[in-house]
Amino acid sequence: MGVDFLPDHIDHARAVAAAAGLDNIYFSDGDFVQLASDWPEKFGRFDYVTLHGVYSWISAPVRAALVNCLAHATAPGALVYVAYNGQPGWLGSMPFRHITRLMRETSDQPSTDVLRQSIEIFDRMAAGGASTFQILPGLKARVAAVKKQSPNYVIHEFMHEGWHPFWASEVAAELDRAGLGFVGTATIAETLLPTGLPPALRQMIEEQSVDSLRQDIQDFIINQSFRRDIFRHRRDDASATHSQQGRDMDALGQMQLHLLTSPQGAALDVKTSFA
Ligand SMILES: C[S@@+](CC[C@H](N)C(=O)[O-])C[C@H]1O[C@@H](n2cnc3c(N)ncnc32)[C@H](O)[C@@H]1O
Repeated sequence: MGVDFLPDHIDHARAVAAAAGLDNIYFSDGDFVQLASDWPEKFGRFDYVTLHGVYSWISAPVRAALVNCLAHATAPGALVYVAYNGQPGWLGSMPFRHITRLMRETSDQPSTDVLRQSIEIFDRMAAGGASTFQILPGLKARVAAVKKQSPNYVIHEFMHEGWHPFWASEVAAELDRAGLGFVGTATIAETLLPTGLPPALRQMIEEQSVDSLRQDIQDFIINQSFRRDIFRHRRDDASATHSQQGRDMDALGQMQLHLLTSPQGAALDVKTSFA
């Protein structure tokens, strides 16, 4: 089942599902705020819930409603995937976000014109030696990156009222209210952390006994900007072991992978968020 309050998005999802020949899927053009207070029983509860690019793109009241929806939607032991913009990777972008959004709010011109004007202002401030560029080197890189990105994407990212990057500990604290506890990352390369870091930094992380602090310090070390976190519903009872998820975990545990070439010829370079 999929939820989005924009009917266009639901129409698109239905067309994709139909093209894929899926008939065990349905979509609702519901609003998280309304669903939070009136969750239809017929939706049922799910073993897997995914939120990609939603959590850090909605306002605080909508996010609170979304957390309530998660409490309704999760079966005992359910796994919940939440992908969101993380800190501190966006700190250098915050002045650009703030000024661009303020220009949007105080202008009656189209967003694309406002974006162009904002970039011009930042270029002029950089050329004039504005102090903030000195303490936030990432700001100059952000303005340069924005020039190469699609205006639609940038407008959605920076002029959107609800856009807000989070520290991992903040998301974990909010999801705790839905009975969800942090399990780990779904970004495969980041499962190698902190092992893949220089020893001194690795030790800093391993010294932390509080999980949320460990995550935030690790994100500071790698300058994290996008997290894919997995949470698990704590109401774990006997029925969870007989669930679809339990069967999927058994199947995964029995899966074997075989290298089809010799290890010598199998060099693989992977770009990760940390190396
Ligand atoms: C940044 S988009 C991400 C879309 C998609 N998951 C992706 O990654 O490309 C955020 C989505 O949340 C939906 N959304 C925002 N507020 C909502 C609400 N109150 N109820 C339901 N959906 C909402 C928007 O319509 C939009 O499709």
